[in-house]
Amino acid sequence: MPLKAYDLTGRTAFVTGAASGIGRASAVLLAEAGATVHCADRDAQGLHETATLIKGQGGTAHTHQLDVTDRERLRQAVRSCERLDVMAAVAGIMHSSTVLETRDEDLDRVLNINFKGVLYACQEAALAMIESGTRGSIVTMASGAVDTGGPGLLCYGAAKAAVVQLTKTLATEIGPHGIRVNAVAPGWIRTPMTDRRDGKAQAHTEAFMARLAPLGRVGEPEDIAQAVLHLACDASAFTTGQILRPNGGVAMPW
Ligand code: NAI
Repeated sequence: MPLKAYDLTGRTAFVTGAASGIGRASAVLLAEAGATVHCADRDAQGLHETATLIKGQGGTAHTHQLDVTDRERLRQAVRSCERLDVMAAVAGIMHSSTVLETRDEDLDRVLNINFKGVLYACQEAALAMIESGTRGSIVTMASGAVDTGGPGLLCYGAAKAAVVQLTKTLATEIGPHGIRVNAVAPGWIRTPMTDRRDGKAQAHTEAFMARLAPLGRVGEPEDIAQAVLHLACDASAFTTGQILRPNGGVAMPW
């Protein structure tokens, strides 16, 4: 039985990007805390695997195959929830190109998914919560990149900086409804997103990132899921408009 402040029994959470990495770990942990979890992603197979994990531990999961840039589809999925207490807008992509190499289509693609996709999820969740009078929690996924910048991070970092601005702005606007909005800005986390290179290059990067962290390791998806759970539940009832940085203590990686 979870601690009362972490107990989400009877509540419903919606998680985007739930087919993989941080989104999957968050969906599984929110379900473990007692929430009914609606898992959304464009990857049908990954969604099925996440739902199977949740059901395997006795939880309740629903899946929605969708692209977060499709506002209408996202609205339908959110509206299909019997109630909505938690929105975790996690879906995102990595993109790397220098400022001088960046093309319009790169910027548009990254801003569409990493910013507009989060904006739509926040808007739909906020509207549903306000309508039903639910004092819910919205959690967005930013990145340590907003603090540091870094080579190749123009598009990705700009989208994540916009997510931070969205989080703070929305928190001020819907706080009077009792709805909280916070962001998680993870450091380097071992997920399929950061694991797409060959083994040697990957091991080299991980060792480098681990050396930068006072805690001496890179993060795991479960480390970030714990931050999402904290912001989703009553343990953080007086926290809004904040950026939580689970990053092993890294202050400035470049
Ligand atoms: P991942 O690649 O393992 O998972 C991302 C998920 O988002 C995938 O299931 C993918 O299918 C889904 N997705 C991507 N575009 C989508 C779209 N248009 N519509 C619906 N679903 C879509 O990546 P990871 O690492 O779990 O990343 C999750 C979030 O955490 C992202 O927003 C990422 O920017 C952020 N993040 C990750 C860090 C890391 O080191 N892994 C560090 C900081 C932030």
